[in-house]
Amino acid sequence: MENFTSARDKLLTLGLVGLGLAHELNSPLTATGLGLELLADRLRRPDPPSPAEAAEAVDRVLSRIRRMAALVDRFRQFARGEGGRPTWVELDAVADGVHALVRPTLAELTHIALVRGDRLPGATVYADRLLLEQALAIAVLNAADALGDREGCIELHVAPHRPGWVRVDVDDDGPGFDSVNDSVELGFSTKGDDGMGVGLALAKGIVESAGGTLEASNRDEGGARLRTCLPVRPSAAGGAAD
Ligand SMILES: Nc1ncnc2c1ncn2[C@@H]1O[C@H](COP(=O)(O)OP(=O)(O)OP(=O)(O)O)[C@@H](O)[C@H]1O
Ligand SMILES: [Mg+2]
Repeated sequence: MENFTSARDKLLTLGLVGLGLAHELNSPLTATGLGLELLADRLRRPDPPSPAEAAEAVDRVLSRIRRMAALVDRFRQFARGEGGRPTWVELDAVADGVHALVRPTLAELTHIALVRGDRLPGATVYADRLLLEQALAIAVLNAADALGDREGCIELHVAPHRPGWVRVDVDDDGPGFDSVNDSVELGFSTKGDDGMGVGLALAKGIVESAGGTLEASNRDEGGARLRTCLPVRPSAAGGAAD
């Protein structure tokens, strides 16, 4: 029975990793293809970009490809139950990384403001930075989906939680979760053909592999909140350690 359970868990993890990779690679692959198409078009024009400009465009594509390669590498470790490559990372730096990661996507959605809110300098957690950024980016992009065409705001706050823990909240002022309990389950989606219900299950898997918790709720003032709580490094000067 024990073997059955662990084999089943392993299959579930592998399934999540496969779906998760497809989920996370889809947009950067599309963006990479578009970036290269655009560059090829510009190079064929009678007034092509200078070699320096072309090199810059290639560098942007290359950095996306490097991030995708790193993601594949981390997901393989995640599949082995190793939780990626954890190190001590400052949670503020992770939240800043998320902000930078999603900014290009949100830049086109000028009706949505992205705010990097409260900070907690010195609060350090033990996690795979790349995977944790990816998990929080999922929350931000879901919030943008939920806002749709309406004007709104997405905020990222790092704050102390209960003693020994810190948290990152991704808050929005959209319609809130239809079903707070179901939304983080694998396969639950309210987006019809546009959603597979993979994002939040993957984010939860990543956060739990770092010893944390991920919780969806609706805010009293309206809108959704996705709260990620993680154990903080005991010596961290952030006011959150006990
Ligand atoms: N910020 C939010 N506000 C309101 N509802 C949300 C928010 N984030 C997620 N949801 C709800 O949770 C569901 C599950 O989200 P999840 O990211 O797991 O899947 P999805 O976005 O539907 O599809 P995908 O697999 O492409 O991510 C969504 O379909 C939506 O109903
Ligand atoms: Mg999603």
